[in-house]
Amino acid sequence: MITKAPGIEDIFPDKSAQWNHIIACARNCFGRYNFREIVVPILEFTELFVRGIGTDTDIVSKEMFTFEDRGGRSMTLRPEGTASVVRAYCENGEYNRRNVSKFFYVGPMFRAEKPQRGRLRQFNQLGAELIGEDDPYYDFEMIALVNSICAEIGLPPYTILLNSIGCKEDRARYTAELRSYYAAHASQLCHSCTTRLDKNPLRLLDCKEERCAALKDEAPKITGFLCAECADHYGKVRRYLADAGIAYTENPHLVRGLDYYCRTTFEFVTDVLGGQNAFAGGGRYNQLVEELGGAPTPAVGFAAGIERMMLMCPPENFKSYTLDAYMVHSEKSFGKAVEIACMLRGRGISVDIDPVAKSFKAQMKRCDREKAAYALIIGEDELAQGCCTVKNTSNGEQKKIAFDKLTETLYNELQRSVYTG
Ligand code: HAM
Repeated sequence: MITKAPGIEDIFPDKSAQWNHIIACARNCFGRYNFREIVVPILEFTELFVRGIGTDTDIVSKEMFTFEDRGGRSMTLRPEGTASVVRAYCENGEYNRRNVSKFFYVGPMFRAEKPQRGRLRQFNQLGAELIGEDDPYYDFEMIALVNSICAEIGLPPYTILLNSIGCKEDRARYTAELRSYYAAHASQLCHSCTTRLDKNPLRLLDCKEERCAALKDEAPKITGFLCAECADHYGKVRRYLADAGIAYTENPHLVRGLDYYCRTTFEFVTDVLGGQNAFAGGGRYNQLVEELGGAPTPAVGFAAGIERMMLMCPPENFKSYTLDAYMVHSEKSFGKAVEIACMLRGRGISVDIDPVAKSFKAQMKRCDREKAAYALIIGEDELAQGCCTVKNTSNGEQKKIAFDKLTETLYNELQRSVYTG
C-alpha cells in the first residue's frame, strides 16, 4: 500500500464540516473588512523566499521543499503566502491602481519541519495582507480582523501577544546589544545559535532549544531601543486596541521567525495546542515590497493555521453534513425515484439513491447510516397512487405526499427545520 508522506494529512469528510466552517467564517470576516481574495501560485522561484523571508531564518535555511525543475531552475513549494502576494502585487503593478490594497488568501503551505501534533509539512493557512499604508490604525485593524475571525469560528480563549521590533536603525542598535549579551553566554548556546550569533542575532530569540530559551528571559528587550517615531507608532496601536476593548499581552521578545518584519509583531497563542502554541501570527513589513523590486511601500498582514484552529475546537461544536433525503424504491419504481431525485436536487435538496433495488429493510438501513432527514419511499403501491411515503427519520412520522407536491412540501419542511435548529 502506498501511504502519505510524513507530516501530510488527509481531511476526511468527518472533519470537513470543521474545515469548511473555519474557512467560511474567515471569508465572512474578510468581506466585512473589505479584503478581496487573491490566488497565488503554490510553486515559485526559490529566490523569492530567500530574498523575502531571509537566508538565516529556519524556514529558508532548513525547511523549504526545493528542487530543480526540468529547465534547471530552482523551484520551491511556498512555505508561506506573504512573499507570493507581494510578488504578485509588484508584478501586476497593483500600486498604480490603488493606494491601499487589501488581499486575503487560503491555501496549502509547505515546510519540512519535524512532524508532530499541530506541526505538519503540508498545512493550510488563511491570511491577509494590507499593502500601501503605514498608519498604526491598520496594524490594529489586522489584529481586530484576526480577533473577529476567532470569535466567528467560536475558538476557545486565547492570548494576543504584542510587540514592536522598531525600524532598521532600532534593530541595528538592539542587535548589537543582543549579540554582546549572548556572546557572554556563548558556551551555553546550541550549535545553530552559535552560527545565529554571528549572522542574525535576532533569530536567537526564536530558538526552541531549552538551554537557549532559558537565556531569553534575561536577554535585552527591544522596547528600550525604539526611536521616537516607532515608539509613537507602537503606542497608537496599543491605544486603538485598548479603545476597542481587545486585550493583549506585551512580549518584548516576540520577534517572529521571518526576517521581513518591522515595528508591530503579534501572535495569537493558546495552551490547548501543547508545544505548538501559536495558531496565528503576523506583523508589519515595510521593506518587503522594495526588497522584491517594487517602490518603497509599507504593509502589514497575518496568517493563521487552519489545522491548528481545527485542533482547538472540539468536533462536537460543528454540525456535520446531513443528507436531506434518501430514496427507497423497488425495481419497478426506480425510474420514478430517479426522476424525483433529479427534481429535488434541482431545488437544492440533497438526495442519495442506490440503483440496485435492495430489500426495503436494507435500503432503510442505508438511509439510517447516511443520517438522512427523510426517507422517500416509492413502492409499487405509491407508484400506482402517484404519491410518495415521506418518513421523517428523527420522529418516525410518516405521510403520503403526491409526486407533484413533493418538491415544495419537502423544501418548506427542510427550511423550517433549519430555522428551528
Ligand atoms: P507564521 O507564523 O510562520 O507566519 O505562520 C502562521 C501560522 O501558520 C502559524 O501561526 C501556524 O498556525 C501556521 N503554521 C506555521 N507552520 C506550521 C506547520 N508546520 N504546521 C501547521 N501549521 C503551521 C507566516 O507564515 C507569515 N506569512 C504571516 C504573515 C502574513 N505575516 C505578515 N503577513
